Amino acid sequence: MNVYDGWRIATMLKHHGFSQTDDVADADIIILNTCAVRAKATDKVFSALGRIRRAKKPDALFGIVGCVAREAGADAFRRIPDLNFVLGPQSYHKLPQILSNPDSRLLDINLGGLEKFDELPQMETSPRVAYIPIQEGCNHVCTYCIVPYTRGPELSRSFESCMADTLHAAKTGAIEICFLGQNVNGYKYTDESGRIYRLSDLIRETAKIPEIMRIRFTSSYPTEMTDDLIKMFATEPKLLPFLNMPIQSGSQSVLTRMNRPYSLELYLDIIRKLKLARPDIQISSDFIVGFPGETDSDFEQTMAIASQIKYINSYSFKYSPRPHTAAALMKDQIPENIKAERLAKLDSYLNEVQRDFNESCIDKTFDCLLEGPDKTGRHLVYRTPYMQQCIVTTDDITTAPALARITITAANKASLRGKFTA
Ligand code: 5AD
Ligand code: SF4
Repeated sequence: MNVYDGWRIATMLKHHGFSQTDDVADADIIILNTCAVRAKATDKVFSALGRIRRAKKPDALFGIVGCVAREAGADAFRRIPDLNFVLGPQSYHKLPQILSNPDSRLLDINLGGLEKFDELPQMETSPRVAYIPIQEGCNHVCTYCIVPYTRGPELSRSFESCMADTLHAAKTGAIEICFLGQNVNGYKYTDESGRIYRLSDLIRETAKIPEIMRIRFTSSYPTEMTDDLIKMFATEPKLLPFLNMPIQSGSQSVLTRMNRPYSLELYLDIIRKLKLARPDIQISSDFIVGFPGETDSDFEQTMAIASQIKYINSYSFKYSPRPHTAAALMKDQIPENIKAERLAKLDSYLNEVQRDFNESCIDKTFDCLLEGPDKTGRHLVYRTPYMQQCIVTTDDITTAPALARITITAANKASLRGKFTA
C-alpha cells in the first residue's frame, strides 16, 4: 500500500514540474512516506528526519505522509520544528497546498474519505505489476494493531473506479494486477441500484482483459474468504495459486485475546476448500510471537500449525506495543529476550519449509513474469506464480520476454534458478 501511495505522490509531483533525485542535498522537496505498524518503523522515521534536516538545502520543503504522520500529528512539529507538512494516509493529495504556500505549515490527519484515489493524476506508464487499491482501513480491530487508528474504518472504492484504474494499468503496460487492501477480501461496494460487488466480481472482470495475465490480492482476513472468492481459484486460471492469509498465532486463546475470533478448525477448513478449488495452491502467513500472555505452550501451538500448513514465504514479527491499541495495556507483556528466542525458532523453521518448497520446484515448469535485470545487470529476475525469485541467465537480456515458460534447475532458501523452455 505504501509503495502504491509513493507512486501516486511521485506522479503528482511530476505534474508540478518536479523530477526524482536520490540526493537529499539536491532536493527541493523531501517526503517520507511512513509506516507505523511496529515501533521500530516509527523510530526509524524520526531518526531519518533528524539526518535529513541536517543534510537538506535550507529552503527545501520537507515533511512526512502516511501512518506515522497520522499517529504523531501536531507532535511531529514539536519534535522536528522545521517540518513543513504532516499529512495522514488519506490526505496526501493535499500536498500541492504547501507548494503554493511554502512558508506555511500544513497538518491534515483526517480520515473518512478516499478522494485521493480519484483526485490524483494517473501514471502515464504502469509497471508490469500494477497495484490497485480497492479498499482502505479495517473494521477488525485486532487488539495489537494500529491500522484501524491510522487508516480508519473500512472503506471500499466503487467498482467502476477500481475497474477504471485496472483498465488504465492494462493499457499502459501492466501484465499483472495486485488488488490491495488492509482487509482486501472484505471488499464490498453497493451501487445505486443496490447491486453488491465483491472481490470475486473484480477478479472475474479483470480476467477478461487480454493484456492482464496474472491476478493476485493481499492481504486477506481468514473469515472473509467467502465461497464466491474461493471458487475464483477454480474458475479463473489467471488468478495465481498463491494466497497470503495471515493466521498470526496457532493458539486459540491467544487468537481470542488478539480479537481474531475464528476457530482454528474454521481456518483449516478454509484451506481445505481452497485446495479443493486449486490443488496447487500455496498459502503464506504473517505471525506475531510474544503477544501479551503468550505461554511456551501457546508458542508451541504456533509452531505446530506452521508445521501442519507448511506455509511458504511467511513474515514473522515480535509483538510491538502500539499506541491506541488494547494489547499495549494488557498485563503479562513478554520480555524482549523471550520474544527474540521465539522469533528465531519460528523463523528458522519457516525458512526450512521455504527451502524445501523451493527445492520441490526443481524440474517443474512455470509461467513467470519478468521483474528486470538483477543487480549485476548480467542475469534476469523473473517471478514464479508463487512469487519466488527465479534467476535466468541469457546471452541477451535486452530481448527477454515479459512472460516466459521457465524450467527450474536449482533452488536455495531465497531464490530459484531456471532456464527458458519452449
Ligand atoms: N506488533 C507486531 N506485529 C504487528 N503486526 C501488526 N501489528 C503488529 C504489532 N503491534 C503484523 C501483523 C500483520 C502485519 C502487517 O504486521 O502480523 O499481519
Ligand atoms: Fe490490523 Fe489486519 Fe487485524 Fe485489520 S485485520 S486490525 S489491518 S491486523
